[in-house]
Amino acid sequence: MTNIETATTMDKIVTQIKTRFKVVNHVGRMSRGRRKLLVYGLVVGTLLLLAYKLRTCPEPQTMFMMPKDKFVTDENMKIYSYDRNMPLIFIGGVPRSGTTLMRAMLDAHPDVRCGQETRVVPRILQMRNHWYKSSKESLRLKEAGVSEEVINSAVASFILEVIARHGVPAPRLCNKDPLALKSMDYLKVLFPNAKYIFMVRDGRATVHSIISRKVTITGFDLNSYRQCLEKWDDAISVMYKNCNKVGSGYCLMVYYEQLVLRPRATLTEILNFLDIPWNETVLHHNEMINKPGGIALSMVERSSDQVVRPLYQEALTKWVGQIPDDVVNDMANIAPMLSTLGYDPAANPPTYGIPENVAAPEHQYESSASGDSKHTTTRKR
Ligand SMILES: *[C@@H]1O[C@H](CO)[C@@H](O)[C@H](O)[C@H]1NC(C)=O
Repeated sequence: MTNIETATTMDKIVTQIKTRFKVVNHVGRMSRGRRKLLVYGLVVGTLLLLAYKLRTCPEPQTMFMMPKDKFVTDENMKIYSYDRNMPLIFIGGVPRSGTTLMRAMLDAHPDVRCGQETRVVPRILQMRNHWYKSSKESLRLKEAGVSEEVINSAVASFILEVIARHGVPAPRLCNKDPLALKSMDYLKVLFPNAKYIFMVRDGRATVHSIISRKVTITGFDLNSYRQCLEKWDDAISVMYKNCNKVGSGYCLMVYYEQLVLRPRATLTEILNFLDIPWNETVLHHNEMINKPGGIALSMVERSSDQVVRPLYQEALTKWVGQIPDDVVNDMANIAPMLSTLGYDPAANPPTYGIPENVAAPEHQYESSASGDSKHTTTRKR
């Protein structure tokens, strides 16, 4: 019932009561003029409210739909909201380059949760690339109102939902799906404040690991060192270009060899880059496996059996003597990215650097390693 209807009904009832029982009640005592004033007041009030609401609506041409705030809660019902502008962390690189070790170290930090590979994040990125490969299909999408803005919003939501909900909440959410970093430039569009940790490892070691552990990766022929090194070169050069494109403020190249040889110095640099306070737990990742707030492992991920161990250095040169001679002799041509990244293609093996004393603070170490200019530090691009 509107106010006017209420008022009229009230009038009728009052009149009825007055005429039937000749009693005078409170409303009845009000003069007719006063009652009219009350009704007019209500009508004017309603109109003002409507006018105010209309005024605050956005202009039609700037109208857009926004999702409601998204959040997840932890076991104490603490709320963690998530959105496209949050400072997500993406870890990637060519598979078998230490991406699992990297994410385990960050997972050991109480503020960070990476979790297992999601597998679907690189796939949705690949699907989106397919939609734009053909100009005919792009046009169809555009004509259907499925603009790039719409696609970006949908793809970002998909990725964000997967990252936020596939593990426990944490102040800093992180994702490790190695090949997703091929799309670093596009991820930067979706998540403007995200940061990228690009794991780099000597391609000969990476390929030896892929082949000896029979890790299936699309496009890699596990029977050929030459072909795998070429594929390594292709993949890493795409990521390298993208890392340069998004810039040193957003992409940090981390050399696996340095992470293993000089974990304290390297992790200090990484946490600074990510604006995360230092915590000693990152140096003891193996103690945090399957602990609450620690590292959740997948039974079916290739590197799970390796990160349960403390850091070890033997793996760095396991590839030496395993690669066919014709490939070794042609290394600079097969994998030019080796030199670009600072690995000597003619050295078997190159000097990766001198191990730091993990227990010693960084400044005590610095002088002993300063001789090796090529591999002593991670490099920002
Ligand atoms: C480091 O992490 C541990 C384990 O989560 C936590 O108890 C401790 O308070 C943290 N230390 C600092 C300095 O933040």
